[in-house]
Amino acid sequence: MARILVTGGAGFIGSALVRHLIADTDHAVLNVDALTYAGNLSSLEPVAQSNRYRFARADICDRDAVARLIAEFRPEVITHLAAESHVDRSIDGPADFIQTNLVGTFSMLAAALDYWRGLEGAEKDAFRFHHISTDEVFGALGDDGFFTEETAYDPRSPYSASKAGSDHLVSAWHHTYGLPVLITNCSNNYGPYHFPEKLIPLMIIKCLSGEALPVYGKGTNVRDWLYVDDHVRALTAVFERGVPGESYMVGGRSERTNLAVVETICDTLDRIRPRADGQSYREQISFVADRPGHDFRYAIDASKLERELGWRPQESFETGIAKTIRWYLDNESWWRPILERNYSGERLGLKATA
Ligand code: NAD
Ligand code: TYD
Repeated sequence: MARILVTGGAGFIGSALVRHLIADTDHAVLNVDALTYAGNLSSLEPVAQSNRYRFARADICDRDAVARLIAEFRPEVITHLAAESHVDRSIDGPADFIQTNLVGTFSMLAAALDYWRGLEGAEKDAFRFHHISTDEVFGALGDDGFFTEETAYDPRSPYSASKAGSDHLVSAWHHTYGLPVLITNCSNNYGPYHFPEKLIPLMIIKCLSGEALPVYGKGTNVRDWLYVDDHVRALTAVFERGVPGESYMVGGRSERTNLAVVETICDTLDRIRPRADGQSYREQISFVADRPGHDFRYAIDASKLERELGWRPQESFETGIAKTIRWYLDNESWWRPILERNYSGERLGLKATA
């Protein structure tokens, strides 16, 4: 049993990690989150009553607040997920990405280093700072090849550039100060509690609302999809058994074109929630102006994680997408308030071309 400080635990992946840690392990969790537009405490209702779970509202850029929380909670592990995470928003307004992803990660590293330096013996040896990152830091692939731990960084969007910078800061804190860090770079996640600005939840909700399904460009861009619970099981394996200073790629070998993803959503809904007029949801597909600087393809080779830590994804894209669609059908009470309060499905990320 360990004390795990999770930043960004009210977001999509962070809340999945917290639910997993409370439901399936003995670890205790302190969730530190600023509750930006993407943070949602209702994603944590399943664990809110646990005496192993605590929430603290704080901005990771506030180093004093972070240092105080670390000193009180005395974590064995810090898993750092708090970030601005949406590429389209980073195109319209990069400033928040620089602030949270770069300055915020610096602030977390500085506070973690002070704390770690004050530890001794076994406690000091056991401490880990785990930084959660993305495969987007490696840029875009063509038709062939995969990202590995040896791939050179080549970020293309303000989001991926800010994440790449944060990876470099984390590495530097290991090489320069000896902080025991771990980095994971994961492909696109999907699953329950996903904020509806992202492709999969946006398409499910737009299908149900009878709206056009905006596919960027020709829909030929490729993403490598991983069910979020498989990601959080990988994260747990890495901070429990990974080697400090190492990075690990996380992905489920589930490449799909965007159009294929949208068609799968349409076909699944045709079966389980047919349109009243008997038409297919595919009728709603609409090709729209491409995203500026749209990376063509991402694909992950996760052999190192599989070989060294024995991780395997449990869901295929088919089982994961079916669970996800069912969850959105059954949990309108989670997403409807977001549409009313935070984001109503409008197109983002075109300011660069306006
Ligand atoms: P998300 O946008 O759903 O959640 C981000 C969370 O961070 C929110 O709860 C938000 O309130 C919090 N946050 C933002 N700024 C903060 C600040 N300054 N201080 C404290 N909290 C703050 O993101 P997500 O999809 O859950 O992604 C989590 C992490 O995983 C990110 O670091 C992201 O780069 C990385 N990642 C995401 C994917 C993906 O497909 N979503 C894939 C690989 C890696
Ligand atoms: P997104 O979910 O924003 O993730 P990322 O950009 O981090 O990969 O987008 C996934 C893919 O779907 C990406 O190639 C852009 C595309 N996309 C659309 O075609 N239409 C949309 O409305 C959105 C949000 C994304």
